[in-house]
Amino acid sequence: MGAKRRFLVTSALPYANGPIHFGHVAGAYLPADIFVRYLRLMGEDVVYICGTDEHGVAVTITALHEGLTPQAVTDKYHPVIYDLFKKFEISFDNFSRTSRLPHHKLSQEFFLALEGKGLITKASEKQYYCPNDRMFLPDRYISGTCPQCGQPNARGDECPRCGSWIDQMRFTDPRCTLCGGVPEVRDTEHWFLRLDLLQPRLEEWFSEKQDWKSNVRTAALAMLKEGLKPRAVTRDLSWGIPVPLSDAAGKVIYVWFEAPIGYISSTIEWAEKNGKNWKDYWCNNETKLVHFIGKDNIVFHALVFPATLLGMEGYILPENVPANEFYNYESSKFSTSEKRYVEPERFFARYGSDVIRYVITATMPETQDSEFRWKDFQTRNNSELADTLGNFINRVLSFIVKNFEAKIPHPGTLTARDEEMLALRGSITSRIGAEIERYAFRKALEEYMGFARECNRYFDERAPWKSMKTNISDCAAAMYVSAQLVLCLSAIMRPFMPNAAGRVFAMLGASALLCDLDWAKGGEHLLPPDWPLGKPEVLFTKIEDAAIREELSGLAGGTASHV
Ligand code: MF3
Ligand code: ZN
Repeated sequence: MGAKRRFLVTSALPYANGPIHFGHVAGAYLPADIFVRYLRLMGEDVVYICGTDEHGVAVTITALHEGLTPQAVTDKYHPVIYDLFKKFEISFDNFSRTSRLPHHKLSQEFFLALEGKGLITKASEKQYYCPNDRMFLPDRYISGTCPQCGQPNARGDECPRCGSWIDQMRFTDPRCTLCGGVPEVRDTEHWFLRLDLLQPRLEEWFSEKQDWKSNVRTAALAMLKEGLKPRAVTRDLSWGIPVPLSDAAGKVIYVWFEAPIGYISSTIEWAEKNGKNWKDYWCNNETKLVHFIGKDNIVFHALVFPATLLGMEGYILPENVPANEFYNYESSKFSTSEKRYVEPERFFARYGSDVIRYVITATMPETQDSEFRWKDFQTRNNSELADTLGNFINRVLSFIVKNFEAKIPHPGTLTARDEEMLALRGSITSRIGAEIERYAFRKALEEYMGFARECNRYFDERAPWKSMKTNISDCAAAMYVSAQLVLCLSAIMRPFMPNAAGRVFAMLGASALLCDLDWAKGGEHLLPPDWPLGKPEVLFTKIEDAAIREELSGLAGGTASHV
């Protein structure tokens, strides 16, 4: 066994301004969760960090819409979001909030340290100002046509369609988001992160990242090629972390400067709760830092936050930033505000977490935009989970219960085919692990389902219901092997469908073994002869057409494609 590897895994901190939906989960949370669950099963040292992003215009605009203070908005949505993540079984080690005082302090320390090094400097900038609302209009307070892709009503921070980082002054049709009026341009003083000065160091670091996903490389290289410019990291707003300088009254730190520092403050919170030293993670070159994000966050994670870390010195930089593309809902966007999303209470009560984790993984937007479709949800549930995976498990366990007194049979002499299936367990476990390690979650799941199909084929070929009557020791051998295949299927299932895996373990009477099934030894775990099984149950139930029709009829937005 090699030495343990150390991983610091993060998922983008969601804005605490509304519930999360499948689109978020597909982008930044489920892939990260599969990755960390797998690493834990490999026995690696891994910490998985997240929390809510509680400042910025995303929050203040919601506050206006909902007639609440920004504080009340974040107090309302932080628990809502956390609860949804629990329903999806996202297994964060720490889920913090950027409104916590230690986060404010750390962000101010970063700001001052960079200012002290001349990497944050003050300058005057032109900013839109709304005479009607009597305020400056940073970020999402301005909207207009995206100068990059032509998307109308793009918000003034990042374009929701192409993800590019918008310079508001390049809008030809800027509008105040609050009143719809035409803004004026005024001068205001701000502090700028000197990305121009940090560019050479960033380029040198980035040049080693040849293996990153092409969506991330392309976006980052395009910006490097254009030449990074100083970027304002303060705002004229009252909601946020105060700029810790005497000549900065009324200014706060830009949310995109401080939110990623939330990865660090959340790690510190975790370390304090768990008797660890956070510097062993953030300030140790052995640590692999991996940021899971959606494509609208690429620039910040591939360039701006690394620039901050480089400027600070002593911190590690990301090993990888596996960004996903967008995940749509029946061919248009998920949107909680427009009620184009799946109501979670009802959804989880009906379907639980396993099927949705499976379906989102199978359709994950790894290399291009993809979508959730109810019809596909039904088909994958019925033919892959119920008819293939669940069916194999059920056939095997029921057969042993019925014909072998619910105990693992003695193998006797194994056939070559039996040996081949036992050997397949090790190779498939390591193949799936390798796919997960290169962030190819769809491929990993395909391999998994391919293995389940192979298990069914094996069972059909061995036809134990026949040998039962003619050659009981041959039947026992086939059932011994089949039971080991069930064990292996449930062990590999854990990162993808942890809840279902737990249920199979219970059926195997093996819940207590759960923690001992090291992924790296996937080919070696065996239930011994005479091991008593638990009670077999149906693992996945079929979803009827009527249920899918009902889901589709409730879909707002009118673009539901018909099935
Ligand atoms: N809140 C941002 C969003 O939802 C993501 C912030 S990620 C962090 O797009 F790095 F800033 F934390
Ligand atoms: Zn206005």
